[in-house]
Amino acid sequence: MAVIAHLSDMHVGAVNFKEKYLLSAINNINELNPDLVIITGDLTENSYYDEFKVIAEYLDLIENQMLVVPGNHDARHIGNECFEGIIKKRCKTLKAETDEISAIGLDSSEPDLDYGKIGRSQQASMEINLKKANEDNLYKIIALHHHIIPVPKTGRERNVLTDAGDILKSVIDGNADLVLSGHKHVPYVWFVENTAFVTAGTVSSLKLRGKDICSFNTINIQADKVEIILNKADGNSRILAKYENKCKVIN
Ligand SMILES: [Fe+2]
Ligand SMILES: [Fe+2]
Repeated sequence: MAVIAHLSDMHVGAVNFKEKYLLSAINNINELNPDLVIITGDLTENSYYDEFKVIAEYLDLIENQMLVVPGNHDARHIGNECFEGIIKKRCKTLKAETDEISAIGLDSSEPDLDYGKIGRSQQASMEINLKKANEDNLYKIIALHHHIIPVPKTGRERNVLTDAGDILKSVIDGNADLVLSGHKHVPYVWFVENTAFVTAGTVSSLKLRGKDICSFNTINIQADKVEIILNKADGNSRILAKYENKCKVIN
């Protein structure tokens, strides 16, 4: 069995950033001791150097291996340079592996723009990495900030990947098991063929919809089944999805 913690959209530097929710999530994750922690972008609000320094201090509290990809809010004001200098030093950003899992990170951010794009070069390397992970019989996870499939209850669609069709095809053809995203601050799960597309809510921002509260996801991967659990900031949790594990590589 393997356990993944998936958190997203901290938005450090925003007026509605709530440190107590982030610290509580980090405590819970450290207690859970997952095999891998995956963070799908929007670590900061404005990509300022000082915001990256602050989020780096929070990330230093996480005790397990991390894979972190940037979001649109981390690509403002040449935020890519700060991400490279501060986050990449501490965490993996393109690839993380355990004995049974291959997690592939993609940068969907574009400088000073909110929409997302993967591009042909990252698409090609993702295809190569998926092929290798299939040959090695690993459980395959793709992590990116922007959603590939529109998320319900998020209003007019504006920020789905501009090359969503191409990436969706590569992901399905490459037999990926999980695709993890953030951005919309709405937890949801879609299934296409054998791939689950999971979005996380925001772990520490009050940019929320309706009665939603801050949350993060945990994913329990067992030989026969997969459980995706929504962990809410009020201490309650519920199963977002439970389904048969078609991959079968986790013992
Ligand atoms: Fe966000
Ligand atoms: Fe975003």
